[in-house]
Amino acid sequence: AAFCARADVAAVTLPNEIKSSLEIDWDNLGFGYHETDFIYVSKCGPDGEWNKGELEPFGPLKLSPSAGILNYGQGIFEGLKAYKTEDDRVLLFRPEENAMRMIVGADRLCMPTLPVNLFVQAVKQTVLANKRWIPPPGKGSLYIRPILMGSGAVLGLAPAPEYTFVIFVAPVGNYFKEGLAPIHLKVENTYHRAAPGGTGGVKTVGNYASVLKTQLNAKKHGFSDVLYLDAVENKYLEEVSSCNIFLVEGNKLATPQLKGTILPGITRKSVIELAKSRGYEVEERPVSVDELRSADEVFCTGTAVVISPVGSIVLEGDRLEYANKGVGKVSQELYAALTSIQMGKAADTMGWTKEI
Ligand code: COI
Repeated sequence: AAFCARADVAAVTLPNEIKSSLEIDWDNLGFGYHETDFIYVSKCGPDGEWNKGELEPFGPLKLSPSAGILNYGQGIFEGLKAYKTEDDRVLLFRPEENAMRMIVGADRLCMPTLPVNLFVQAVKQTVLANKRWIPPPGKGSLYIRPILMGSGAVLGLAPAPEYTFVIFVAPVGNYFKEGLAPIHLKVENTYHRAAPGGTGGVKTVGNYASVLKTQLNAKKHGFSDVLYLDAVENKYLEEVSSCNIFLVEGNKLATPQLKGTILPGITRKSVIELAKSRGYEVEERPVSVDELRSADEVFCTGTAVVISPVGSIVLEGDRLEYANKGVGKVSQELYAALTSIQMGKAADTMGWTKEI
């Protein structure tokens, strides 16, 4: 794929017409879709150069029916959040990490990469242009969704001749309907999420389409989501459809090691660093499904889910329960430590937040 080296972002003139009503129930946000004011759009043609990115009024994109993304799933996305602090600052959480992960994903899907500073500048502009949609402190965050896709027309299977980078944002609260209450999972025993050599380790759009069926089926049976096992031995934990997984036993945390089939979550990485800094031992290694039987606590991590405690997991007909189906002590501690940094309530000793 062509390497697009442009790093500067166009100076933007904001359109005069912006929606005037801002009727949002900040206390009941959930993780629903809300249109905001602006999206960011940049294109990269066959010459491999990104054009000057621009903010545009929020609205539909125009795509050829033959676009690479529509026909062959040539697309990846990211997820990150902006928080408004009590003293009215706006903080991004580790945006460079998303930029770097997108570079890896773009390479895997033969798409042009976006330089880290272009990505971060574009995120910043989009958030500032939509500033009024950032929830008040303590009510949630502005979820930022960058997408990189093959927008050029193809018919035979090949990389698209043109790429579009889009960012849209939406105010969000809790991801799971349980809110901060523990979620309930089942170990998936029919389907797998990813196989060695596949694309499980990058954020392709296809990874998420393929888990919808199991997720819906689990929800029908009262579960919040499913926990996937590895596709080779059907024995080791991988991840949940939208998040990574951690087990706690005593002072030790264990999470499946990254081996190409598991998404390298930025919250996962942050929780590992945070837990170590607070004296926990953290192991990234193969985690056998049987270890679910002896864990004291289980929790999920992700940008969208933050840290979600797991109350129970159904495994081979047994219902395993954790922390008396409440929020475990360690999950609670790490949740508080992480979100205090993200929301600017605690000193950012890790250097993770970026004020914009
Ligand atoms: C995120 O956590 O940001 C994700 O991209 C997961 C998505 C399924 C909401």
